[in-house]
Amino acid sequence: MRLILNSPLDMHLHLRDGDMLKNVAKFSAKDFAGALIMPNLLPPITDIKSLLAYKKRIFEAVREENFTPHMTLFFKSDYTADFLEKAKPYIAAIKLYPNGVTTNSEGGIEQIDTKRLSPVFEAMSELDIPLCVHGETNGFVMDREREFCAIYEQLAASFPKLTIIMEHITTKECVKLLEKHENLHATITLHHLLITLDDVMGGLLNPHLFCKPIAKRYEDKEALLEAALNAHKKVMFGSDSAPHLVSKKECCGCAAGIFSAPIALSALAELFEKHGKLTNLQTFVSDNARDIYKLIPINKPIVLEKKEWIVPAKFDDVVPMFASQTLKWKVKSRLN
Ligand code: NCD
Ligand code: ZN
Repeated sequence: MRLILNSPLDMHLHLRDGDMLKNVAKFSAKDFAGALIMPNLLPPITDIKSLLAYKKRIFEAVREENFTPHMTLFFKSDYTADFLEKAKPYIAAIKLYPNGVTTNSEGGIEQIDTKRLSPVFEAMSELDIPLCVHGETNGFVMDREREFCAIYEQLAASFPKLTIIMEHITTKECVKLLEKHENLHATITLHHLLITLDDVMGGLLNPHLFCKPIAKRYEDKEALLEAALNAHKKVMFGSDSAPHLVSKKECCGCAAGIFSAPIALSALAELFEKHGKLTNLQTFVSDNARDIYKLIPINKPIVLEKKEWIVPAKFDDVVPMFASQTLKWKVKSRLN
């Protein structure tokens, strides 16, 4: 049995830099036609020169693979309309991080005051630059995303022409918001369709499933599944594949992030098939992103076969999701 996906897109991806970039980029480049590249490097990507230099390093890391990195800038409150106009040809979106809520988000926004930030949001609306948001407050960890819904609503209502992407949503409340505001959209990860907090820490603690936003309750997972499996027009796949060295995961002070890039398409096919929704995977993993981001991806059909394979325990020093476990679908002609 075979499945062909036309130009799959991963609309939320951490490729890192240096040796890590060289280790991880090939997995996304092989299986996807393109990805939205997160700007949370150290220091973050906030100017065109470093953005283009980073893009060049990504191309070097993916070598001959046909893959489009859709670049993003790290949101700053002092971006001017003039700067944004110059940046527009080089970026697909701008990513807003509240200060300190996740890996490398220092230098993010202290307070999302829609009035104070309105010049940037107005300029982005005019230029049709989507705003991607890591939507978490500094509140109690299980409530952070739900609390942030009020900010999403305020943003959506105050800037109706701004395309807003609620990144890696994890709650039923965020799924509901999609119906309420036309300009709200969302990415959903693979892991949030599969796990709840129980899998992270209900039994023995699993650092490799620790990520931000933390996986939530069963009813949240169900709401996310309902939207993704039925190819809701306003949701798209964003893996949030976020690799960290094993030494940073298996330690006290475990870094947040799940490395899912090497298994993302296989596990998605298995999940959609299990629910009898395989025919909707194309929409979730590519078509919706084209519509929301108004992008035309390179033509890259990806063939998956129904063939069991065992996920390696590690890729260099990074442990992937489903490490040492068997998956039912395999991307044909993968690298290893
Ligand atoms: C991401 C990372 O490691 O960069 N971590 C994560 O847990 N998802 C950052 C992010 O997207 O929150
Ligand atoms: Zn992320």
